[in-house]
Amino acid sequence: MKYSVKTDSPDKLATDCLVLVSHLKSKLGSDANTVDAASNKALSSILRSGDFSGKLGETLLVHGLSGIKAKRVLLAGGGEPGKLDARHFRKLVQCAMKALVKTRAVNVHFSLTGIKIKDREPDWAAARIAQETESAIYRYQVTKSRKQDNVHLKSVSVSPPKTGGKKSYTQALALGSAIGEGVNIARELGNLPGNICTPSYLADQGRQLARKYSRIKTQVLSEKQMENLGMGALLSVSAGSAQEAKLIVMEYRGNDKSGSRPVVLVGKGITFDTGGISIKPGQAMDEMKFDMCGAASVIGALDAVAALELPVNVVAIIAAAENMPGSRATKPGDIVTSMSGKTIEVLNTDAEGRLVLCDALTYASRFKPRTVIDIATLTGAAVGTFGEHTSALLSNDDKFAQELLANGRQSLDLAWQLPMWDDYQSQLDSNFADIANIGGPRGGTITAACFLSRFTEKYRWAHLDIAGSAWLSGKEKGATGRPVPLLVEYLRQQKP
Ligand code: BES
Ligand code: MN
Ligand code: ZN
Repeated sequence: MKYSVKTDSPDKLATDCLVLVSHLKSKLGSDANTVDAASNKALSSILRSGDFSGKLGETLLVHGLSGIKAKRVLLAGGGEPGKLDARHFRKLVQCAMKALVKTRAVNVHFSLTGIKIKDREPDWAAARIAQETESAIYRYQVTKSRKQDNVHLKSVSVSPPKTGGKKSYTQALALGSAIGEGVNIARELGNLPGNICTPSYLADQGRQLARKYSRIKTQVLSEKQMENLGMGALLSVSAGSAQEAKLIVMEYRGNDKSGSRPVVLVGKGITFDTGGISIKPGQAMDEMKFDMCGAASVIGALDAVAALELPVNVVAIIAAAENMPGSRATKPGDIVTSMSGKTIEVLNTDAEGRLVLCDALTYASRFKPRTVIDIATLTGAAVGTFGEHTSALLSNDDKFAQELLANGRQSLDLAWQLPMWDDYQSQLDSNFADIANIGGPRGGTITAACFLSRFTEKYRWAHLDIAGSAWLSGKEKGATGRPVPLLVEYLRQQKP
């Protein structure tokens, strides 16, 4: 997709479709007013007819207005005048994009002069339009023999909400499109079936990222190498599978100053989670192909960071494995030794995410991280608590947690913090090992994080449980690409 800033007056702008905002109570935005005047009050007469009320998210496509250069006009409802906030604006753009991609328009223009969004800088709107455009044009195709509904759209332009500062809007468009593309990369990897997206496939994606960006170096550790490092917890998960586990390490160098410590992202990459010997019931088990969405979000975020050439160092680690039952599979009661030296009693082989993550988190400390964030579809309990709207956040550093929550609000990729009081830790006591891999049915999201916290004592660490937010079920089944926007926002805020 091509993005640009255009400052021509909306009536003189040649485009296949001009998007104009109109609020409730017949309050046209200022560009809509300009078009109304140029077109012999055509918009006013539409409003008088009652066909368009201006309700938030409402759209109306109009052809053949006289007196203007645009071939079509799309009226987009802005809701109550003066009350447009960031979430409202997202809805407005999403609804407009939905209408636009149904048309044959190849280029479209969002006319935003004078449109104010509460709590946001004016260029945020441009970034959001680009991000939502990328979202709206994503189609899952690879495993369908018949390609569906082509998108005709090729370029999107915006006129800034405030005049001047063209450069900052151009940058904002680049930011939004990089985030949108990162989100789509994560969605695509998430949506791929488990027989295609295996640990080796993810490793290839990591290598391709290094080919795409010179600032990224990728290294893939084999099972043999992991064995030499003592990663008994990670390897216990892939033991029952014919697919080799991989530890994928991607290093992005955005800052060459020596001593610039990296942010380390760690993604859970279970390419299919049957539960292992503690096998899952059949109902909706197909959705366990999404159990690598943490890994997918790490790849998507790193792609965006590299595209934007952010001046920060990032290490992305993916713990990739397939959790299968089999004659060599780990059994309930088996005890494994993690890379940290701590022994773990595997009471339930379906609590495999924490087993692959704990070794990856131990490995992370060799990078002397400024912070470590792991992203994982870790617990069904997080789905029960937050549904699809919110990611669960837990951390060993409250200030860090607050920072990430704010990044989530800014990027409209929301997270909410759960407590990690010491009281929960004893639920992980084991009679036979240093720690058990489950903490019982109560407080499942918290005890899972408590398990991880035993391996993250040396650095500032946060855990995002995205079991609810990473994909949608039902008719809309598909990966969401979250929390790529939150992660990119965090990395963008890092001082070099
Ligand atoms: N990948 C699942 C978590 C999950 C379940 C995510 C359903 C989304 C929807 C994870 O590996 C798992 O199976 N967790 C168990 C842990 C339990 C055995 C302590 C769970 O949440 O049931
Ligand atoms: Mn599981
Ligand atoms: Zn899992």
